[in-house]
Amino acid sequence: METVVSGIRSTGNLHLGNYFGAIKNFLKMQHTHRCYFFIADYHSLTTHPHPADLHNTVKQVLVEYLACGIDPEVATIYIQSDLPETAELYLLMNMNAYVGELERCTSFKDKIRNHADNVNAGLLTYPVLMAADILIHKAKYVPVGKDQEQHLEMTRQFGNRFNRIYDVEYFEEPVAFNFGTELVKIPGLDGSGKMGKSEGEGNAIFLFDAPDAIRKKVMRAVSDAGPTEENQKKPETIENLFTLMKTVSKPETVAFFDEQYNTMKVRYGDLKKQLAEDMITFVAPFRERILELSNDNDYINKVVKQGAEKAHESARKTVEEVREIIGFKRFG
Ligand code: TYM
Repeated sequence: METVVSGIRSTGNLHLGNYFGAIKNFLKMQHTHRCYFFIADYHSLTTHPHPADLHNTVKQVLVEYLACGIDPEVATIYIQSDLPETAELYLLMNMNAYVGELERCTSFKDKIRNHADNVNAGLLTYPVLMAADILIHKAKYVPVGKDQEQHLEMTRQFGNRFNRIYDVEYFEEPVAFNFGTELVKIPGLDGSGKMGKSEGEGNAIFLFDAPDAIRKKVMRAVSDAGPTEENQKKPETIENLFTLMKTVSKPETVAFFDEQYNTMKVRYGDLKKQLAEDMITFVAPFRERILELSNDNDYINKVVKQGAEKAHESARKTVEEVREIIGFKRFG
């Protein structure tokens, strides 16, 4: 059985981008593959979360993950920091990651641009920690959105380089995975191109959003003055609204508004109203389940404990083998 690994940073609630980019694929794979899904709380430290908030954010993301339908009885779901082996593998892999290639990574360049006051070494080596997450279970598939493609390329690079340096065929090449073949990028509502938790207010629709919050955000979504010619190519902001509609609305609804756009009869107010209602219908069962699970501490504790135990088995094995390959030997 092939192994699947994927993670979500614990920096905020899950949004539709996370769901359609990554989670939807996990859900399909959990019954057919050996799946490890984790909450990346080590990764979240690059932004220095307040100690009083860290635990609750991790718990919230865990609950939301479970509410999506990840079944801890078949898949292994764990918290990244419950697996210190990941930190050890990260340290070891850091020795084969070159500063130049890390500095060229797009996500690092973005961070330098947007958070110039906090360019820490953890940000630079973020792709190495991600590679450790993936290689520690010797994953074949990694369900992620388009934004993670380059990190997967780097993971392959680090794994291959390890094999070359030690003249072994230890790590296989993991691939970014999506059932629809193309990796997905779900746009945000503010015209910024990508739905994300660290983008501006109003950009993301969260699985935990209440109906009114969704209506407000969608009605404020960026649009334009309307088409000026029949069948014209849609500008990016409008294309984004249609892309979002395709994720939550019925194909007939999308076809209807597409026709309205092409014949210059479209009213963005109506389109947004429909989009908001379809989003509300889509997230309602998630929201309900999140509320239900949030109070079930016994269940949550059980899931975390069970996940850590299962994840340890595979992580310990990899780290022991890697140590042996590198040449560490126990005394006595
Ligand atoms: P994160 O927490 O930013 O996002 C989690 C997952 O959601 C996907 N995603 C999107 N997909 C499509 N459209 C969007 N607008 C969108 N926004 C987010 C991401 O591609 C990702 O799959 N570094 C990772 C977490 C991580 C990880 C790993 C993932 C740490 N180690 C190992 C896979 C394997 C991150 O920050 O994802």
